[in-house]
Amino acid sequence: PSVTLQVNASNVAGRLIPDTLFGIFFEEINHAGAGGLWAELVSNRGFEAGGQNTPSNIWPWSIVGDQSSIYVVTDRSSPFERNKIALRMDVICDSSGCPSGGVGVYNPGYWGMNIEEGKKYKVAFYVRSSDDIDLSVSLTSSDGTLTLASEKFIASTSDVSKWTKKEVMLEAKGTDHAARLQLTTTKKGSLWIDQVSAMPVDTYKGHGFRNDLYQMMADIKPRFIRFPGGCFVEGEWLSNAFRWKETVGPWEERPGHFGDVWKYWTDDGLGHFEFFQLAEDIGAAPIWVFNNGISHNDEVETASIMPFVQEALDGIEFARGDANSTWGSVRASMGRQEPFELKYVAIGNEDCGKTYYRGNYIVFYDAIKKAYPDIKIISNCDGSSSPLDHPADYYDFHIYTSASSLFSMYHQFDGTSRKGPKAFVSEYAVTGKDAGTGSLLAALAEAAFLIGLEKNSDIVEMASYAPLFVNTNDRRWNPDAIVFNSSHLYGTPSYWVQRFFAESSGSTLLSSELKGNSSSLVASVISWKNSSQDYIRIKAVNFGDNSVNLKVLVTGLDPNVMKVSGSKRTVLTSTNVMDENSFTQPEKVVPQESLLEMAEEDLTVVLPPHSFSSFDLLK
Ligand code: AHR
Repeated sequence: PSVTLQVNASNVAGRLIPDTLFGIFFEEINHAGAGGLWAELVSNRGFEAGGQNTPSNIWPWSIVGDQSSIYVVTDRSSPFERNKIALRMDVICDSSGCPSGGVGVYNPGYWGMNIEEGKKYKVAFYVRSSDDIDLSVSLTSSDGTLTLASEKFIASTSDVSKWTKKEVMLEAKGTDHAARLQLTTTKKGSLWIDQVSAMPVDTYKGHGFRNDLYQMMADIKPRFIRFPGGCFVEGEWLSNAFRWKETVGPWEERPGHFGDVWKYWTDDGLGHFEFFQLAEDIGAAPIWVFNNGISHNDEVETASIMPFVQEALDGIEFARGDANSTWGSVRASMGRQEPFELKYVAIGNEDCGKTYYRGNYIVFYDAIKKAYPDIKIISNCDGSSSPLDHPADYYDFHIYTSASSLFSMYHQFDGTSRKGPKAFVSEYAVTGKDAGTGSLLAALAEAAFLIGLEKNSDIVEMASYAPLFVNTNDRRWNPDAIVFNSSHLYGTPSYWVQRFFAESSGSTLLSSELKGNSSSLVASVISWKNSSQDYIRIKAVNFGDNSVNLKVLVTGLDPNVMKVSGSKRTVLTSTNVMDENSFTQPEKVVPQESLLEMAEEDLTVVLPPHSFSSFDLLK
């Protein structure tokens, strides 16, 4: 079949796309942060994950040695007020009787630590003992037999009779993607250990973000970052919800918490401060989602909501307040004098149907607008088909559905009222059998949906795919955009689709129309500029089984011809629509670029079956 795309390339006939249109949603799900973007290698670094009653489970820590050589138990002797659990080791054997290599404990990190030859790792821990100590801190292979780096601490009782922080820089002599950290001794006696951290020195700007994952995210060029959830913000129960105050201050003093929706413990190294730092590093506007007194299973009634409102106001002050304000001073004490820019907050996540949502919402809304009139507030209630019954700057819209349904939602916002708050499509994705663990089919439907959002960007001002990350060792949600383990990563086709839209935010949407039999085609055209050159970018999804010849007719150019040289085509397709990427074939379904050959004034391009193509034409 042959279809025509009629384009008016004059910017005057176009419409500016909001600067914020495409961004990312970072949720602590699938170990996106703990065991993911946050580069800390030790899991359960303060021994708190087993709960506050002792003795407690120290998982994933394990013992090096046996019952005849060592006895390990937790107690509540930590020097840190908010995380009282510490580890006590009673070493029974002595240098003549201990197994070679000593006895102690090891931490395997998050399914193995990625230790790389020549790289440096900063290990810190707290220790106390009423005996002299002789402790080896080592990075070893997964079974402990091969030492990749090691340092010995020898200290007399007088040095460690009170809790003492020790730090060491270890340089790896070898590589192991599933290494572990060991603390061992051959000296008889008792010692206590707490708050053990092992951080690669090489993180993004030294800010603690794992470089390869950071870069994948940055390449999307997100204009905003919504964080830290999702259901993670709500909790199954309020007692397990993300409480920002528990995640700030020195890392050793953070209690950590069990995220009961995604069912794992986080030490909260990636806390409220680090999210703002991440947003700034990546050049994205932070959008903080806070708990509004509602979890999946319990709610705070509106009459009692004020403490939660105060907590939200304090969280805003932490980001925006000057260094002398109560919470701004906590930020300053973490090394950041100047405020972070915070212009958007969301009151809760997916809570619109809850009993107290509207009542609570209004109390939050009024208090925030009074203190910070410029902050834009996002409601959980969908205003796309009928007007909201409460004030808001934006409303959340979430959609997880089949491929055909999302493809047809290309038109979703065509009929939405242009009055009132703007739409924030803060979570979208194809899920279910069409998606597999990240299929081309899902990505094509998402591309069509995004083209529809681009066309409706007078009312839709922000959109983000969900979820962003998955550590394959604990896949809590499927599919996800960026797939990783301790050392490797790849993008699903859905990830690559987002890269096609990296230039859309802040560009100009040109007027365009498809003519001919085009029921399985959608297309949009933008005009954008890099530092030196003006481009027209045509994006087209062919959702059908047949290839289509697309004839592009462009008017409104000055002079009225397109320049050929330097124009390029980028195509995302594969032999089978259910094809996916994987650790073994990370580039099976990735965009392919080629130079575009065309006759001036007559551009006809072939859109392969099941494909997403973009054409960058020099203006
Ligand atoms: O993106 C995964 C989950 O989907 C989010 O936590 C929640 O908001 C939605 O239900």
